[in-house]
Amino acid sequence: MDFSYDIAASYRDNFEQGPRLSPPPSVPYPAQEEFLGERVNSRLGIAAGLLPNAKWISGYAARGWDLLTYKTVRSKARECYPPPNWVFVDADAGDGPVHATQDLPEDPSQISSAVCFGMPSMDPSFWREDIARAKESLAEGQQLIVSVVASPESGWSAAQVADDYAQCAAWAAEAGADVVEANYSCPNVCSAEGQVYMDVELADSVTKAVRSAIEQTRLLLKVGVFPDADLQRSFLRAVAGVADGITLVNGISREVLHRDGRPVFGEDYVRAGVLGRIIHEPCVAAVREAKAAIDAEGFNLALAAVGGVSSLADYKDFIDAGADAVLCGSSPMYLPDLAAEIKASL
Ligand SMILES: Cc1cc2nc3c(=O)[nH]c(=O)nc-3n(C[C@H](O)[C@H](O)[C@H](O)COP(=O)(O)O)c2cc1C
Repeated sequence: MDFSYDIAASYRDNFEQGPRLSPPPSVPYPAQEEFLGERVNSRLGIAAGLLPNAKWISGYAARGWDLLTYKTVRSKARECYPPPNWVFVDADAGDGPVHATQDLPEDPSQISSAVCFGMPSMDPSFWREDIARAKESLAEGQQLIVSVVASPESGWSAAQVADDYAQCAAWAAEAGADVVEANYSCPNVCSAEGQVYMDVELADSVTKAVRSAIEQTRLLLKVGVFPDADLQRSFLRAVAGVADGITLVNGISREVLHRDGRPVFGEDYVRAGVLGRIIHEPCVAAVREAKAAIDAEGFNLALAAVGGVSSLADYKDFIDAGADAVLCGSSPMYLPDLAAEIKASL
């Protein structure tokens, strides 16, 4: 199996030398679809994570991925956690530990993995220019989504957290983002920015601050799985009319262990975000629930669905559950031509 990201190398090496991709396949003729009020070639894209710079964005755009998310950036440079940052795991259902493995299923669409990067970021002086390069590399009918997050220091007020989100969002919009995605959920970050979606009051003030900073630019909010329907409804009520849509879900937090019980990502990160096949079913359920709540309350919010999409059937599961767009996180690493294949079958 060929991988565009080398999990044995550092994040920095992948950033600088990747992606490892063969020449692109021929991409089916653009369709007329719509996402967030704009015409797009398809409602299929890549979620925040695999594409950390313009080189990665342009490599995947050329292979027919139409909604391309620039990996989460911050208002200050931040190093990646030490490697390993990405491992393949054995897929078992439930919420117990998952185990790292090098034994991959023959069918790549069955792969599950786990990541722990800590949302590294280049300095804004780099990414503000690089986003403009990424945008320039896109064809008509492709959208650039830029994921942003705050970097709270101890003692910061909610207003300071909101301002930091808003600053990143304003820079992303100014650099050419078609859509800004405020990341309210990260399973591997313990400070406030990893859990904004669980705090309705904070989410309310951050969303308003970001909206006024980016004016008319489209705004998505990335969330994790809500622990209960009431919290989900309160969150949706707080952000409806301010944001344009919700991206759900981020990786699902599970213990990630070696077979002998040692935590793969070290003692500080026993739990990490699990991705791929293992999370597809719960993510489809989360999207269906969110869609039901949105329809019941008449909220004007689009849904970008994420979680374990690695085949046409997975894509259809999300569309049937009410998604307006489908984003793949990990599968484009081992199935770089999945977009072209799905578009050819549609
Ligand atoms: C290499 C990698 C890095 C990631 N980094 C981010 C990130 O910076 N911000 C974010 O919101 N999600 C991040 N994610 C999570 C994905 O956006 C997505 O929610 C997750 O992979 C689940 O989708 P999947 O099952 O299709 O992989 C990352 C995922 C991968 C594979």
